[in-house]
Formats: sequence, C-alpha cells, structure tokens
Amino acid sequence: MTTTLTQTSTAQLPAFAQKFLKEPKKLFIDGKFVDAKSGKTFPVFNPATGETIAYVAEGDSADIDLAVAAARRAFERGSWRKMSPSQRSRLIYQLADKMEERLEDFALLESLDNGKPLSIARVADVPLAVDNLRYMAGWATKILGDTIPIPGDFHAYTRREPIGVAGQIIPWNFPLLMAAWKIGPALAAGCTIVLKPAEQTPLSAMLLAEIAAEVGFPEGVLNVVPGYGETAGAAIAAHPDVDKVAFTGSTDVGKLIVKAAAGNLKKVTLELGGKSPNIIFADANIEEAIAGAAFAIFFNMGECCSAGSRLFVERPVFDQVTQAIANAAKGMKVGSGLDQSTEIGPLVSDEQLDRVTGYIQSGIDEGARTLSGGGRVGDRGYFVAPTVIVDVKPNMKIMREEIFGPVVAATPFDDMNEVLEQANDTVFGLAAGVWTKDVSKAHNVAAGLRAGSVWVNCYNVFDAALPFGGYKQSGWGREMSHNALECYTETKSVVVKL
Ligand code: NAI
Ligand code: MG
Repeated sequence: MTTTLTQTSTAQLPAFAQKFLKEPKKLFIDGKFVDAKSGKTFPVFNPATGETIAYVAEGDSADIDLAVAAARRAFERGSWRKMSPSQRSRLIYQLADKMEERLEDFALLESLDNGKPLSIARVADVPLAVDNLRYMAGWATKILGDTIPIPGDFHAYTRREPIGVAGQIIPWNFPLLMAAWKIGPALAAGCTIVLKPAEQTPLSAMLLAEIAAEVGFPEGVLNVVPGYGETAGAAIAAHPDVDKVAFTGSTDVGKLIVKAAAGNLKKVTLELGGKSPNIIFADANIEEAIAGAAFAIFFNMGECCSAGSRLFVERPVFDQVTQAIANAAKGMKVGSGLDQSTEIGPLVSDEQLDRVTGYIQSGIDEGARTLSGGGRVGDRGYFVAPTVIVDVKPNMKIMREEIFGPVVAATPFDDMNEVLEQANDTVFGLAAGVWTKDVSKAHNVAAGLRAGSVWVNCYNVFDAALPFGGYKQSGWGREMSHNALECYTETKSVVVKL
C-alpha cells in the first residue's frame, strides 16, 4: 500500500469551491434560501483532514414544518399540479442538463465532503445522477392507467396519481446520486418533496437546490432541509402531513422510520444495509474474479450498501484468490480524494473510522487473521487500509453485521448447495455476485440467492433502468426503474355507469 496523505488546504481549491464554501449555506424552503428558525448552523468536515470546511443551516422540526407546508401548498394549489406531464418532464431534463454542465463543481464538492476520490465522483456519482434524472424525466409522460372490462354496463379505468408530499432522507455515501435516485421518480410522478441530506454531506444537495431554483421549478416543489437525523429526519418520518417517506441508510434507523410512519400510516420505502455475498467458483476466469472481488469491496472505500463484503471462494482456489486480493489491496493508493492518483480516500467521518476499525479489531479478537490492511492509516483524517480477513466463522460479528468500510471477510466452500446456504445465512438481502464460466451454475445460483440484485461475472453494475432494492431486512420497495416510479403513485379505480 502506498500512501500520500497530502492535504489540500481550502486556500488551494478552485475559485468556485472557495466561494461556495464561504457563502452561508441556507435551507431551501418554498423557493427561497432561508436561515434555520433556530438560527443554528452545523459544521461540515473534510474527512481527509478533519478540518471544518463550511457551516450549514441546521434544520429541525420547526423548519421541517415550514417545508412540509410549502410542499403541501405546491402539491394542492400550485402551478405544479396543473402542469402537463411534458412540462414536468422538461424541467427535470433541464435540471439534468444543468447538473451535467456543473459536473466538475459537483464532483469537487462530493470529493471534499465525502472524501471519495474525485475520479469516482466524476465517472460515477455525477454522471449516474444525471442519467437517473433523464431516465425519470422520460417517464413523466408515460404514467398510464388501464381500462378494465368488468361485468355490467360500466366503463372502468384506473388513474395513477402522485402520492402527494414525499419526505426523503438520504445517506452520505453517494450524496448527490442518492438525492437524484429519490427526487427523480418523485418529480416525474408529480409529487412535491422535502429532502434531507445526511448531516455528514449536505453540500452537493445545496448546489442541487441552487440549480433547481435556476431551472424554475415552482416554489415549494423541491425543498432541501439539511439537519441531523434525530431532529430533522425524525420530524419528516413522523410528520402527519407527509404522505410518503423514502429512506436510505442503516437498518436500525429504517426500523425507527417505520415506527414513526405508523402515526399517519404514510407509505414507506426503505433502502437499507447489506452483507452481500460474492461467490467465486474454481471454474471462473480467476483473473477477472480477483479484480472483480477487489472492486466489489474496495469501490468507494467499501461505503456501498451493495459492497461484496462476504467473499466465498471454492476451496481449490481459495489461497490464490485471497492472496491476490490482499496483494491488490496492498498496492492501492490511499490518500486525499482530491489527489488524482488516489484509489482509496478517507472514510466519511470519525464515527465511521471508529466503527470500521472496531469491526476489524473484533474479527481479530475472535480469531480471524488479516492478509492485508488491518487498521487506520496515518493519524490525521479518517483513512483505513483496504483489509482482507480470513479464518472467519459464520457467527463472527464481521460475518453478520454491515461494516461499511474497505473490509472483506473471506471463507472457503466445497459445493454449490453449501455456499448458497451460507450466502443466504444473513438478515440482509441486497445484492450478490457469482463468478463462474458454467452457465447452468450461474443461473441456478442467481435463482437461489435471496437478494435484490445478482451480478454474474461482474459487480456493482447499476443503471437507471434496473430496479435496485432489498429482500429481507435490506428494505422495502425498489429504487430506479419504473418500479421506483410506482412507489410515488397511488392507483385510483374509476367506475362509470353507462
Ligand atoms: P443513519 O441511518 O443514521 O443515517 C442515514 C440518514 O438517516 C441520514 O440522513 C441521517 O441524518 C438520517 N437519520 C438518522 N437517524 C434518524 C432518525 N432517527 N430518524 C430519521 N432520520 C434519521 O446511518 P449512519 O449513522 O450515518 O451510518 C451507520 C451505518 O448505517 C453505516 O455504518 C452503514 O452500515 C449503514 N448505512 C447504510 C447506507 C446504505 O446505503 N444502505 C448508507 C449509510 C449508512
Ligand atoms: Mg446514525
């Protein structure tokens, strides 16, 4: 592993970023940028240094009330409600175009705020967010009902109508992309929105609010209220005038959201944690499987809900594969996300640093062994070395709980049924990978895995047209694709006596 924990001070940043970080970052409510009612702000940290880079207005329940009221007005009475689907579509396309024009600005904010390599933000976060908005813009004009033959002299049909005010609570691992996954289908369906970015990474959502204001969405259609989960987030989940809440984050908070949502029985979709199995058979293209398994866990520092964090390797190739991944890990460049050659940036926060290093230590305490990495890198910023762990047992914490860092636990297996049983031995069911040249085996394993996405001879392949979401405790509902759109509509049956 090579490290260059070079630190870019704020003074060396491009002019856009210096200006953006210095300006007060306000809540975006009813088409205006406003201070929090309480007047409070909270600091945003650069994870590569731990330094404060900006202060953002701290929304809490009073601000959520205002944002929900604005969203309600926009939904019930505003021009948004009367707008044709093609006008709605155009606005979403324009938002996507503006986001694309500002690709470099968004990528820079994402890297500064989350820590991720700029190279990832440029090719993944921002373009995928743009693509998702365009995909959903296309759907706005294609939300159709059915005509349904029923007995008697009736004309019966269905209408698909927007669900209403959507509260959307998103995490910090892909801040802009998670915002786009959420707002895209809601806007296409004709909903209005109160979006709460994660407290760790509010910056790109603030720029998103700026460009949405420029594009000219009617006031109150998109409100962005940064703040903490326990205050602003909880207020959205419990709000009696929010019709639907969409959440991405930890399974524990997902359960709190469900409880809070019960008050007014708002509709709920959840995209939660994972402990995704990645299965390599001995008949796979081993070189590709090794590179794929490293990518599956180390992409975005392992801060991916779909990370391939449990690696199952058929016994004859176990040592070869795990050693090769460990060697790849040792060769990865750990450093500031702004450094062009960085492959592994810092984790998002000191909390995440403690969590991930704590898991590694718990594995070691329970008798596992590291082939690479094993802990923090340096003493400034939140860097963790890419870590491969072997000699694991199914009941160890590192095999059962989501780590959300660059840490993979590898275990050998002997046959297909055994590995399917182990792979499914988890409360999660978000994603999985299979590596084999045997077509029957690939399809049999894909069918046997209890997970929302299965990648065969590839990993982390996402597209706006592909549904994404979890089985079991990995969530409710699906993101992206027409499935996501359906989560923002109600179906009305209309029956007319002829
Ligand atoms: P979290 O679930 O606490 O935070 C995610 C979002 O939920 C943030 O916007 C946060 O402000 C909000 N939130 C927190 N508590 C809330 C509450 N009581 N009511 C409403 N909203 C609330 O996740 P955290 O603490 O940042 O990370 C903990 C673990 O969660 C990670 O280690 C990882 O395992 C998992 N996680 C999973 C993600 C995924 O993509 N599925 C994303 C982020 C975290
Ligand atoms: Mg939390």
